Amino acid sequence: MNNRDIELFNDSLERCSAQPDFLSCFYRLFLASSDTVAQKFEHTDLRKQARMLKSSLYIMMLASSASERAAHLEKLAQSHGRAGLDIAPPLYDLWLEQLMRAVEASDPRFDAPTGAAWRRVLQPSIDFMKSRY
Ligand code: HEM
Repeated sequence: MNNRDIELFNDSLERCSAQPDFLSCFYRLFLASSDTVAQKFEHTDLRKQARMLKSSLYIMMLASSASERAAHLEKLAQSHGRAGLDIAPPLYDLWLEQLMRAVEASDPRFDAPTGAAWRRVLQPSIDFMKSRY
């Protein structure tokens, strides 16, 4: 992961965010991907959740640097841990795969390097979240 990845990720995120459907597309895919996920979000206001997800993506970009990771993600990891929302590690893989589908559908300039950049930027945060389960 390098500055070029951050740039590709950030530019693509801006293009996705310009599509009104981007986050609802992600939640549609994510909820349909597993009964467990659908149950977890049964009582959630998904419009509010979508706004939080958008800011989370920027936070994950900041957390892609190792020295910043814990500072940005510790609370989030705690809330998602076994004693809280109880989000088991495999659910993060589903999260990433459905997010990548939504990105591919929403970014009009999506290409392989852009997809690889998203994965390289987000993976360290996902690994951190899993490691705190
Ligand atoms: C790295 C990936 C993820 C990020 C950045 C993220 C981010 C967030 C944020 C910011 C919140 C609100 C604040 C909080 O509760 O701490 C939240 C809540 C939540 N997240 Fe995640 N999340 C991620 C992965 C997941 C996964 C894989 C699931 C699996 C189902 C999940 C399920 C939930 C649920 C159920 C809530 C509470 C919703 C409610 O208030 O009703 N999250 N998430």
